[in-house]
Amino acid sequence: MANPDILFRGIPRARTRGYTANVIAAMRPEIVVVPCCGSFSLAVVAIEAGMQPSEIVCGDISLYSTALGYAIMDQDWRLELKDERGETVKSYLDQGPIAKAAAVFFMLRVLQYDRKVMKAWHIDHQRELLLNVDAYMLQLQEAVSEMRERLHGIEYHARDMWDTLEEHRQNPKAVLLTNPPRYDGGYDRMFAGIDAIFDWDEPEIGQFREADYKRLMDLLGESEAHTMMYYATQGEDPTPLWGEPWRAVFADRPGNTKRSGVNWIIANGSYKDHMIARTAMHQGKPKYPLFMGELSAESVLTAHREHKAVGDFYRDLFIHRIEGAQGEVYLSLLVDGYLLGVIGLHLQSFRSGSGVLKGTKASDLPVKVVFAFSVPHDVYARLHKLTLMSLLSSWLWDDCFAGQGWYDIRGCPRMIQSTMLTPYPENKTARGTGLKMRSRDRQDDGSFKLVYDGKVVDRTREETLKVWLDKFGKQTR
Ligand SMILES: C[S@@+](CC[C@H](N)C(=O)[O-])C[C@H]1O[C@@H](n2cnc3c(N)ncnc32)[C@H](O)[C@@H]1O
Repeated sequence: MANPDILFRGIPRARTRGYTANVIAAMRPEIVVVPCCGSFSLAVVAIEAGMQPSEIVCGDISLYSTALGYAIMDQDWRLELKDERGETVKSYLDQGPIAKAAAVFFMLRVLQYDRKVMKAWHIDHQRELLLNVDAYMLQLQEAVSEMRERLHGIEYHARDMWDTLEEHRQNPKAVLLTNPPRYDGGYDRMFAGIDAIFDWDEPEIGQFREADYKRLMDLLGESEAHTMMYYATQGEDPTPLWGEPWRAVFADRPGNTKRSGVNWIIANGSYKDHMIARTAMHQGKPKYPLFMGELSAESVLTAHREHKAVGDFYRDLFIHRIEGAQGEVYLSLLVDGYLLGVIGLHLQSFRSGSGVLKGTKASDLPVKVVFAFSVPHDVYARLHKLTLMSLLSSWLWDDCFAGQGWYDIRGCPRMIQSTMLTPYPENKTARGTGLKMRSRDRQDDGSFKLVYDGKVVDRTREETLKVWLDKFGKQTR
């Protein structure tokens, strides 16, 4: 079993976990409740966000979670064999909760090779596992002990999520992280074999079904506790299915194709200002290939005006976090003809001079940056800073607007400004780009309203790239 940690991998992906951690850190609830905790990855997130283990309550109905939960709590429980296939781990069943969890995980791994038609490859792997059971059991017990170290002190109950929710849903100081199964039958299939091998005091309740969502969303929609619901779809914001007060607060499309699904976080009320404004994922075709390559001093950066459809298409493709505002002017940023970033601006007041205060000039008005996204890149960790630094460079503005009457009169804007509503007290991506925080206001719901601005510098495309390469080009993933 080259990869025992496969058994411990949870479903929410890194960005979704990161957002969750930041919301918890910003809200500082008294208790975090995970009613269907699977592999406990959301409990780990809560710990990483600064919660004490004693402030975390988990539940699930599967043997898998129960085995891990009791191991984490150091609590013994009844686990017996009911099928001879389990004989191979029998001697571990009276060695305490860590060994019991490892025995369940070992058998899960063995069963993962069971197929109606077993290929030689499956048979070999299964046989190899069974031959080396003691070595693998050692490995698994170490992995379980590691989880125990991380999470010891939390509470786990093998019980129905409805009971866990009922207990905590009216607590305004609770955050509920709710991630029930998304597709009927998936967990039945996953656990079917294992439940035939072991006998334990199983809660007499079936797996949550797709048809239960309506009841769940109605119940939590009118609850006091702040709920984050994890929900994956092929595209559209699912909240209209459930109406008020649900709203999408986060979306992540892990793949780069239009076919890849979107992982949503839906909340029952807080972060109102993150509400998604557009209702449909934009349909369209890519105009440029995405930048996946390497940057060097010879790379050529260019910027272009784009139609709204092009801007929306790429914004949808890169969408990480939902902010409602729509740009009025869209730009693309390219490297050697490949798309690096997409930007939405409000230029109207700069262009028309409206809103100028006495004693200032129209050209002093900042241009509002409504959004800026950069292509997710496998290698460069700080690529988005290049998009921001380009926005703070005169060449980008010349590329896009030179030759237009208003631009030739007013010239390049002196300042750009960006306002964001986020659970974070700071936008780390701005660091080192020239953007500075102008103000930070804590909102009633614990989120922050941050205003950043920065001076646009007289700089060529080559200079911008050189500064980025020197400062950030070596920071890779
Ligand atoms: C999508 S998974 C949760 C994944 C989890 N966030 C993780 O990181 O592994 C759904 C979980 O819901 C559990 N579940 C299904 N029906 C349940 C119910 N009625 N009560 C409690 N848990 C339930 C399943 O056993 C499964 O572990």
